[in-house]
Amino acid sequence: MKLTPAQLAQFERDGYLFFPALFSRAETELLRAEVPRIYAEFRPEIVREKDGLTPRTSFAAHTYNAQFARLARHPRLIVPVEQVFGEKLYMHQFKINGKMAFDGDVWQWHQDFGTWHRDDEMPEPRAMNIALFLDEVNEFNGPLMFIPGSHRGGVIDAGHDTATTSYPLWTIDHATIARLVERSCMVSPKGGPGCVIMFHANMVHGSGSNMSPWNRNIVYLSLCAVSNHIRRFKRPEYIAHRDFTPLEALPDDCLSAQQAA
Ligand code: SIN
Ligand code: MN
Repeated sequence: MKLTPAQLAQFERDGYLFFPALFSRAETELLRAEVPRIYAEFRPEIVREKDGLTPRTSFAAHTYNAQFARLARHPRLIVPVEQVFGEKLYMHQFKINGKMAFDGDVWQWHQDFGTWHRDDEMPEPRAMNIALFLDEVNEFNGPLMFIPGSHRGGVIDAGHDTATTSYPLWTIDHATIARLVERSCMVSPKGGPGCVIMFHANMVHGSGSNMSPWNRNIVYLSLCAVSNHIRRFKRPEYIAHRDFTPLEALPDDCLSAQQAA
């Protein structure tokens, strides 16, 4: 899948692109069916909410689950990002965020590159986030929120918040968020399983808690240009990968072909 010149211009202006139904229901169901088994394992890659039980974020499932390993090399995700950066990619981070019904906690306002730069010494924001919805994402279950154009201001000052949720995050203060929103707006792309959002490493984003009875599982690939690999190995390998081998895309039917075989 190649991006059109209009999509490339929109990405440059807004910092994100939304692709409704990029994956079929059958394809996302094959992935979603794996998730309860992953969450059932108590292993370090799975971060729980403050209650110590509810899965919050599950790192690196592509390293031990065959279906997610195929998703990590899916051409509908890899090819457009290679196009944007003009070089091969490696997987900097791979996670499934649960945002579980009733108990899913907030993700405060932040930029991902802020963390990757400060903690991992990633040189430039030449890494892309891809979010694939495994569940329906609606206004009730904590959709991602973006401030369009906020990626153009570079890395914004942030404080290290280790208290609000179970997961430490470099977060942006409220006055800055209010100023950015005043200059632009807020958007929260919503839709059924199979929708995809591609967003810039400097995009300011967050999400509210999930008070609804519906889980909101989203898989995130953070694809980094190989030449822009991280320089510091401070965080666990399963959070900030150290394998910079270029990803080779699989055939387009890689998720479903496996079932037919
Ligand atoms: C993130 O920004 O890393 C996660 C946000 C979310 O899943 O709501
Ligand atoms: Mn983020």
